[in-house]
Amino acid sequence: MNTLLNAPVHQVLSRLFAESEQASPMQIPALARLSKAEQTAMMQSKSEYRELYAQLKDVPLAVSKDTANLLYMLARSCNARCIVEFGTSYGISTLHLAAALRDNGGGRLLTTEFEASKVRKATQHLSQANLLDLVEIREGDALQSLSSNLPAQIDLLLLDGAKALYLDVLHLVQPNLRAGALIVADNADYCAEYMAYIANPANGYLSVPFAEDVELSCKLV
Ligand SMILES: C[S@@+](CC[C@H](N)C(=O)[O-])C[C@H]1O[C@@H](n2cnc3c(N)ncnc32)[C@H](O)[C@@H]1O
Repeated sequence: MNTLLNAPVHQVLSRLFAESEQASPMQIPALARLSKAEQTAMMQSKSEYRELYAQLKDVPLAVSKDTANLLYMLARSCNARCIVEFGTSYGISTLHLAAALRDNGGGRLLTTEFEASKVRKATQHLSQANLLDLVEIREGDALQSLSSNLPAQIDLLLLDGAKALYLDVLHLVQPNLRAGALIVADNADYCAEYMAYIANPANGYLSVPFAEDVELSCKLV
């Protein structure tokens, strides 16, 4: 059983990955003009993320196919029933996680996105894939939208929004992560404070870099 291979999901994902492969943040002239150091500084900024992602509102910025499949596998292997995602965009990672919930027998995926047009697109893609019933998209800044009414016991957290906020978002979700919960952080290298926190055994995690872009961590207690 692999819902990713079923017609509606497979068709939506094929189309979205094709679109994603054609798109690049560098198609935005204001970003392409920046030096490499300026681009990195913007990715790491806690004050400029809103402006950065507003410029990127028409770019999918999706996880790679490998990371997407990894998300499905991890959610299946820990029999996840409750997942939180920071950074929905067009919903490519969301579709993989929701497919895993479907194949696990159901559950709830809470995801967050502040660009209204991306919320509309992700809603449409999840609906086309017949997976919308498993997903709640909270529109707004995750620092607010994940600050209350979280599910009591979370099995898996995907961090894929503004890199500078990874530790802040982890702190919001952490009290509700169950022992053994998995955290997948995409491009976490941009957030030094997150990497330092997750690597410190005193904070209760075991963490390894995984594949090309992912930091994979397990909450031990
Ligand atoms: C890298 S993309 C997410 C890609 C998505 N996970 C996927 O693989 O299809 C990051 C998204 O997070 C959103 N975002 C960034 N910071 C956010 C914040 N503080 N609150 C809510 N959404 C945020 C951006 O608008 C962008 O669409």
